Amino acid sequence: MVSESSSIKYTKLFINNEFVDAASKKTFPSFNPCNGQKIADVAEADKEDVDKAVAAAKTAFSRNSEWRKMDASVRGKLINQLADLLQRDLKELARLETLDNGKPLSDSEFDIQCSVDVLRYYAGYCDKVHGHTIPSDGDFFTLTRKEPIGVVGQIIPWNYPLMMLAWKWGPALAAGCTLVLKPAELTPLTALAAAALAREAGFPAGVINVVPGYGPTAGAALALHGDVSKVAFTGSTQVGKKIMEYAAQSNLKKVSLELGGKSPLVVFDDVDLDEAVEIAHNAIFTNHGQNCCAGSRTFVQSGIYDAFVKKAVEKARARKVGDPFDASVHQGPQIDKPSLDKVLRLVASGKEQGAKLETGGAQIGTEGYFVQPTVFSNVTDKMTIAKEEIFGPVQTILKFDTLEEVIERANDTSYGLASGVLTKDVNTALVFAQAVQAGSVWVNCYDAITPQTPFGGYKMSGIGREMGPDSVEPYLETKTISIKVPTKM
Ligand code: NAI
Ligand code: MG
Repeated sequence: MVSESSSIKYTKLFINNEFVDAASKKTFPSFNPCNGQKIADVAEADKEDVDKAVAAAKTAFSRNSEWRKMDASVRGKLINQLADLLQRDLKELARLETLDNGKPLSDSEFDIQCSVDVLRYYAGYCDKVHGHTIPSDGDFFTLTRKEPIGVVGQIIPWNYPLMMLAWKWGPALAAGCTLVLKPAELTPLTALAAAALAREAGFPAGVINVVPGYGPTAGAALALHGDVSKVAFTGSTQVGKKIMEYAAQSNLKKVSLELGGKSPLVVFDDVDLDEAVEIAHNAIFTNHGQNCCAGSRTFVQSGIYDAFVKKAVEKARARKVGDPFDASVHQGPQIDKPSLDKVLRLVASGKEQGAKLETGGAQIGTEGYFVQPTVFSNVTDKMTIAKEEIFGPVQTILKFDTLEEVIERANDTSYGLASGVLTKDVNTALVFAQAVQAGSVWVNCYDAITPQTPFGGYKMSGIGREMGPDSVEPYLETKTISIKVPTKM
């Protein structure tokens, strides 16, 4: 492994524009998944620290605060300034992300460029948030005002650390909220670096706070807090359910959730085979399969099934796994030992339940958490690998015959995050796009996620949408103001 000399500057909690120790003085380790070695000791937030961060965010949100009185366009300039600073430090941030998360350096650079683009989209949105005038019954002049909901809590995962931060900060700041973010305990470092950039950009103290720590302590304290008006969460469905419980147990704060998936990618006989294999390969193997919208069920029509499997296997075998700082590498380690074990356990279940392991299926070496790119054929709907989120580099290829059949099978899941269909027949694509129960449908492409396009889940894949205008709405309250108009003057 190339040793990475990236200096880690920020390891403390970021509260009220200051980097501070945890009240308990406790720290927790962050690891390099390439070798399992500690790279930093990070201040560990607990309830007391979350209380302080929320109090700072509450003060920053008070009626006559600098933030509340700021013109919306000036808020937009601040967000753009933060985007400029992320762009300035992109290379350094990418190295830090790769060190903490293990994804290839070029992937980290891509993620951070996407983060910049998302922030710029929401920078432009700030002064376009407005209500309506309404022709209400009676002698009233009625209008609605969109107001920021208040202090918001944001809890994010480790698979796209900085990008998930940008998806959360952009709409919250555009709406005029103040926020407390809890990054994942596995990847806390780039969020702290982003906090330093927010301070440099000129955000008033308390608008942005970052409290690294564990889920059941810091995360739960945030989601249970009585002064938090909304919580936005991305992560597992299991924890998503807990977040709703916390909201119900405390102050009925609004909840938005972006959870897991088992997204179908359906390939019809009429495609260009090489192109289809390539799209399906990237749909599952991107980010080591650690992707909520991964195309993790590859449905292939029977006429091309065998040829498709053969080429998919060749592509998986050609995938280079290793040091994520090596520019020729496509895939680094899985995030941690439990994730590696989960992948290996599900691979074993696939073999036991009768799927054909075409390639891969084993850990690589003993240092770090590297897994061979894996392809299963002869997968059927009831197998565990076709039902559970593997969150690893494992392609499961299922066979189908007709459009009607594949629609039914694609929808036979409790998830509904994303989907894809590859075909030259516009009617087939249209029927599938309308029938599939998923928040995104990608036709002849996959992962076409942009700042302008809403992204989120049907069914147990979540509540609400991120990106695009839909993402701002949950950070707003609508106030109706009705003014009596005199009937005589
Ligand atoms: P997780 O859901 O436990 O972690 C996500 C975030 O939630 C982290 O910041 C964590 O600290 C926090 N959290 C955990 N327990 C909490 C609690 N009780 N209260 C408040 N916050 C809490 O996900 P984990 O364990 O890292 O991954 C497990 C599986 O979840 C993965 O294998 C994958 O299937 C799925 N997942 C899906 C993601 C997505 O993008 N939708 C991202 C990460 C995981
Ligand atoms: Mg780490």
